[in-house]
Amino acid sequence: MDTNLEEIKFVLKKYGQEQLLNGYEKLDERKKKILLEQISSIDFELINQLYDTTKKTQESHAEEVTPIEYLDKYKLGEKYKYYENIGRNAIKEGKLAAVTMAGGQGTRLGYNGPKGTYDIGLDSHKSLFELLCDTLKEEGKKYGVTIPWFIMTSRENNEDTLNFFEKHKYFGYQKNKNIFFFEQGELPMIDTEGKILIGEDGLVKLAADGHGGIYESLVKTGMTEQMKHLGVEWVFIGGVDNCLVKMVDPVLMGIAIDKKVTVACKSVVKANPHEKVGVFCKRNGKPNVIEYSEITDEMAEAKGDDGELLYGESHILCNLFSVEAIERMGREPLPYHVAYKKAKYIDKDGNLVVPTSPNAYKFEAFLFDAFGEVDDMAVLRVKREEEFAPVKNSDEKGVDCPRTARELYKKFYHLD
Ligand code: UD1
Repeated sequence: MDTNLEEIKFVLKKYGQEQLLNGYEKLDERKKKILLEQISSIDFELINQLYDTTKKTQESHAEEVTPIEYLDKYKLGEKYKYYENIGRNAIKEGKLAAVTMAGGQGTRLGYNGPKGTYDIGLDSHKSLFELLCDTLKEEGKKYGVTIPWFIMTSRENNEDTLNFFEKHKYFGYQKNKNIFFFEQGELPMIDTEGKILIGEDGLVKLAADGHGGIYESLVKTGMTEQMKHLGVEWVFIGGVDNCLVKMVDPVLMGIAIDKKVTVACKSVVKANPHEKVGVFCKRNGKPNVIEYSEITDEMAEAKGDDGELLYGESHILCNLFSVEAIERMGREPLPYHVAYKKAKYIDKDGNLVVPTSPNAYKFEAFLFDAFGEVDDMAVLRVKREEEFAPVKNSDEKGVDCPRTARELYKKFYHLD
């Protein structure tokens, strides 16, 4: 018998994960090899730690959460032009790149392909990727540069994403010259007993580990080196699902440069206390975001003397980083957040189980948990109607859906 297999069996026994080899003998040679490689790369100590976190109730770690200061883009007065000028010069010098996080699955949208390939129903039938690319190209023209574009995919959608771009000739971009693709990381899913699941394909059931892994992925895949090679100093990181995302903003960049902060983020005023967006805050004096799934009603509804929500600056996944900050953040492990999900798996008898209610834990790190690494960052409030038209849900939900995004997009570009 293969020594590698013997070693793996030993490790699995040590960690009580022997079920991973239940179906091994029935796999073909190729899959056997993949499964062993997958198992060898699992950090079982981390899996144990993650399982422990699922048993802890959401306790507040005696941390002090306070509101964050922000600047309003349209109340900067004379300073607006000043910042804009600084940012404009930096963009003209080729110091800005854009990263689009497109590793998530469009589960809530009910769409099977990579979310970026989704057509929101405009007359042009352009995909989200193409809409984003249009704005990048338009902005680049204004400054006489091509803004390098980096796209984060996941194992699940990497091939489909690459094929899509290939088919559309990269929308005029040139692969590995000014458009680059890199994959995010993954973690195994575990059941309520802490056992790692085997998926339909007989291999370890893996799930994207959230966009918090982006810093490490950017470094590990050589993207930060590539950025430096291109002369890039600042990187805008945004989501794929906001068709009005403004990736090139000289005012935001000027503020970051002038205030000597390494991270600058955009916010919009929260539409209502219970809108499903994260909000900027400070935790123990450090910048952070409280996710909509984690904020208490009391906090969500709290108002200041001016009648505005105390935690009303919505995080819209529009964040600017210096390359140096990305490299620094890539070195620090981030905490994982737990999500309880429905996950198909192969049981010990080799049968496929299709659960009708959540049965497994998925672990995700969030990019904003790294904000605490920086001493200070700037938050710039922008106008919702100019910069935020997310596509999250199907039209039946009626909010943040293709219809609402399409309407906002058309209004902004005067398409009616
Ligand atoms: C997200 C933000 C929330 C913000 C809202 C604004 C998180 C955790 N929360 O919520 O604070 O107010 O957007 O629209 O991001 N993605 C990956 N890889 C992953 C997971 C996500 O690339 O592993 C990408 C998605 O493709 C998408 C973006 O990150 O572009 C947002 O992810 P999603 O999980 O949909 O976050 P929301 O719950 O919408």
